[in-house]
Amino acid sequence: MCGIVAYVGERTAYPILIKGLQRLEYRGYDSAGIALINNETKVYKCKGKVRDLENHSKGQDINGSIGMGHTRWATHGEPSDINAHPHVSMNGKFTVIHNGIIENYAHLKKELINRNYTFQSETDTEVLANFIESIYLDKKVDAEMAVRLALTKVIGAYGLVISCSDEKEKIIAARKGSPLVIGVGDNEYFLASDATPIVEYTDKVIYMNDEDVAIITRQSLDLKNIQNDQLTPIIQKVELNIEEIDKGDFEHFMLKEIYEQPNSISDTFRGRISIDKTNLFLGGIADVMPKIVSARRIIIIACGTSWHAGLVGEYLFEEYARIPVEVEYASEFRYRNPVINEDDVLIAISQSGETADTLAAIKMAKESGATILGICNVAGSSIPRETDAGVYTHAGIEIGVASTKAFTSQVTVLTMMALLLGKKRNTISDEMYYRLIDGLTEIPKKINDILSTEEDIKEIAKTYQNATNALYLGRGNLFPVALEGALKLKEISYIHAEGYPAAEMKHGPIALIDENMPVFVIATKDKSYEKIVSNIQEVKAREGKVIAIVTKGDEVIKKLADHVIEVPDTHEALAPLLTIVPLQVISYHIAVMRGCNVDQPRNLAKSVTVE
Ligand code: M6R
Repeated sequence: MCGIVAYVGERTAYPILIKGLQRLEYRGYDSAGIALINNETKVYKCKGKVRDLENHSKGQDINGSIGMGHTRWATHGEPSDINAHPHVSMNGKFTVIHNGIIENYAHLKKELINRNYTFQSETDTEVLANFIESIYLDKKVDAEMAVRLALTKVIGAYGLVISCSDEKEKIIAARKGSPLVIGVGDNEYFLASDATPIVEYTDKVIYMNDEDVAIITRQSLDLKNIQNDQLTPIIQKVELNIEEIDKGDFEHFMLKEIYEQPNSISDTFRGRISIDKTNLFLGGIADVMPKIVSARRIIIIACGTSWHAGLVGEYLFEEYARIPVEVEYASEFRYRNPVINEDDVLIAISQSGETADTLAAIKMAKESGATILGICNVAGSSIPRETDAGVYTHAGIEIGVASTKAFTSQVTVLTMMALLLGKKRNTISDEMYYRLIDGLTEIPKKINDILSTEEDIKEIAKTYQNATNALYLGRGNLFPVALEGALKLKEISYIHAEGYPAAEMKHGPIALIDENMPVFVIATKDKSYEKIVSNIQEVKAREGKVIAIVTKGDEVIKKLADHVIEVPDTHEALAPLLTIVPLQVISYHIAVMRGCNVDQPRNLAKSVTVE
């Protein structure tokens, strides 16, 4: 959840750290801090954003060509100056920044208090700093050994950067469960939670694995595991353009990413659909295709928006490949004792590829012998490395905390997978196979049509900007769109919103409807169209305000609803890819009108790397 950046080299570290933290701010933004390692170690940290940190460090000594920075998403201890990272051990020997949770911190803290250690903050990270220091002083070992010994006793997850005041020319990094990437330059190294702060300096990166420890100086990189076995670093080329991580002319990343969807969807299917649009190729799962084709069941695990994409996938797989599907929250799945068989296929969906619960669920499922696939966006992230095979979404980096283009790319991949599987299992007719492939290639153009109506959608947003509650209704594969629309609204505008299968409305939520309640109904033409028209009438009969997402030219709903937003016609299997777009746009505008920080909503972080 937190962002980590560090630099060891010849340049001045401060601007690299500040810029890196700005790039990483989407991972956590309640406080920020840096440590600059010179003759002495200078630590500047404060509650608030990176710009507050810049103000805080103005006029201070910011020299030094080795340093580390951190932007925090609080776990232990409220956001405050004191709880911000870096944390320095009691005798000043160790300076530590940390992403993750030290689960046995209370036990370690008690032991340290018994040994007269005192603490400034409420954080688990300060406990770790003191724990490392206590080993260092007791055992009279070097810093690296003290870190490794400490980590063998630590339970939990960490991405760590550590410096020791007696060994100022090096920094030590360690990873377990929280991502760390090393950027390799000429006589310089960078470290970060992801490649975004690194790409403008080098495209050579090393993705650290769990239990790796890196000892970095200007001239050397030594990679080991916690047990002190020597490892060979694998240098990879990072595929990320610097333009991708800028907002360009857009006011917010979220809006930029909404507008990127025609391209991100094309990038997702590019090279995977034959030129004559009669076939699909998914290279990443080709080797395991026989196992997928003969699967008895598909289990989809994910969290948040990715879980909603999974629900759309359920409709697609069952309809076209005729395989039973279960869609599970990773956080629930991993803590029960699910029955997973060898002939099951488990598909983990994750934009970041780092979500702690999804990762843990994969690790648990591995023991069952099931085939495990990933649908991820971030190349080189943990989930693709833990799975047997997978398909990258190629949506490009998503920085807005509210997921938009990741969702449509995930649904695009799931559509291609379901069609391919249907074809191989002979459960889809050739006619339908060709029709849906062709329909998929038309989606980007149709999304552009929807985006050209942004001003009209903004007008509707004005009417509902002061709502306190909202209901989202959809049926079939548009029910997950209702869930996703509601999530978009609540996470960025803080309006309470619920997504429901439209027919369920009568079993409870209808009691909420009055003249103040906006009800978003996803009502494009499909086999349940007549039913959803009835649902709209039921809402209107109770004076609810209906904002309907309809197929272009729909005159019936136009007469019933308070507002309609038209989307181009498409096959109903592909409708989620279109209908979600106006819901993203309206949430965005409502949130902006309410003065909310759209890209950094309160309490949230982009990638949830803690449980
Ligand atoms: O990176 P992941 O797709 O695994 O993340 C899962 C959720 O944390 C994520 O989709 C979250 O719900 C988004 N903020 C929603 O917009």
